[in-house]
Amino acid sequence: MASVRILGGRPLSGEVAIGGAKNAGLLALAATPLTDDPVIIENLPRLEDIRTMETILCGLGGKISHRESTTQICMKDFTGDPNGEAVTQMRASVCLLGSLVARRGRAVLPLPGGCAIGPRPIDLHLHGLQKLGCEIALRNGHIHVTAERLRGASLFLGGRHGSTVTGTANVLCAAVLAKGTTEIQCAACEPEVVDLCHFLQKMGAKIYDIGNPVLTVEGVDGLHGVRHRLIADRIQLGTFALLAPLAHGDFFLSPADPSHCGALLEALDRMAVPAEVGPNSIRVLGRRCLLRPTDLTTLPYPGFPTDLQAAMCVLMTQAEGISIITERVYPHRFAHLGELERMGASIALEGQSAIVKGPRKLTGAPTAAADLRGGACLYLAALAAEGESTVRNVQHVDRGYENFEEKLRKLGAVIERIP
Ligand code: EPU
Repeated sequence: MASVRILGGRPLSGEVAIGGAKNAGLLALAATPLTDDPVIIENLPRLEDIRTMETILCGLGGKISHRESTTQICMKDFTGDPNGEAVTQMRASVCLLGSLVARRGRAVLPLPGGCAIGPRPIDLHLHGLQKLGCEIALRNGHIHVTAERLRGASLFLGGRHGSTVTGTANVLCAAVLAKGTTEIQCAACEPEVVDLCHFLQKMGAKIYDIGNPVLTVEGVDGLHGVRHRLIADRIQLGTFALLAPLAHGDFFLSPADPSHCGALLEALDRMAVPAEVGPNSIRVLGRRCLLRPTDLTTLPYPGFPTDLQAAMCVLMTQAEGISIITERVYPHRFAHLGELERMGASIALEGQSAIVKGPRKLTGAPTAAADLRGGACLYLAALAAEGESTVRNVQHVDRGYENFEEKLRKLGAVIERIP
């Protein structure tokens, strides 16, 4: 269990280098069993979740090597089933179902349970795979997926909370090698899914209407190796963008694809935080902002991302009035609210909406992270608060933010890890 100590209330400023997108990296890694050829991924962030996925691939016999910012993965002749602690540690391991069943006709994985952000069912993943001809059985807490031959089909992947990111990835990875044409309706349109489509396309997959909620996939007999550079991490970028006004600083964030950040830029604008958008960067001018309150709802892309809901709650504590943020993707993703209240925030949870009263002076306090994004929001709150804070259980934050503390120190933050 790791902790950090943060001395808050200091203005921060400077440039932040945004790394490759964690979730795009996880989807790409999960697709590597689709070919015997080596696959090269550029810009794969060195993060706990990525390392866990690499451990799972190595457990199947994969060979992985790193050189500077490139990672080579070769899954030739992989065998066995993903198992061991690594699989149970990380929910994204479920993304391997599609590629394993497409390549070998079978996949067995422990059924992922709920987690700190609430229940995380995989019914839509299984529904999509079933439509493609898979038999699915649940035995001893494991999902067994088998298929003699995957067949293209028309299928609908929407659920109560909209589309599914990893579910779309799973079905895509199976459909690219299925016989015939697949139409995925209500496919997730997140940039990470689009990046996976481009990755698969470069491997020889035939995918049409990429980025749209209806994807068409024409199955092919085999895929080949690829060299692919991941998109920049829009959630890491958003986390720093929301920190800028909290730390009264100007942040230059790059590389960035502003077209992935429409909802975030709109939210900043509504809150009166100036931002300058360049072709490959975003500058957030957080000095002397008088923050306006706002009302936001998290939604699947291009809506406001659920992964920035916690960080947005912190910014809302500093707005001049009552702000509301409604969580429509993970209705239970509010474990951070209690910790923010400990620092002086005034937040009432009504159903799926956090009602945030601002402006409130935040003061340093001992806190604990319960999940990745909720943990990162505690860093932001601690940096905005007067005095010293500690954040325990920051191993959750390590799963998703590469060199987070180093990047914060470069901006002027006083932050240290407590052994
Ligand atoms: N859902 C179902 N049935 C399913 C799948 C999903 O009901 O079969 C529901 C979920 O419970 C949720 C909603 O649909 O209410 C959306 O879930 P989705 O499947 O899109 O989430 P995910 O694919 O498991 C990915 C990211 C998450 C991110 C969400 C939403 C990866 C590895 N994870 O999860 O990232 O919050 O999409 O954008 O890509 C994070 O990085 O901290 C993180 C949690």
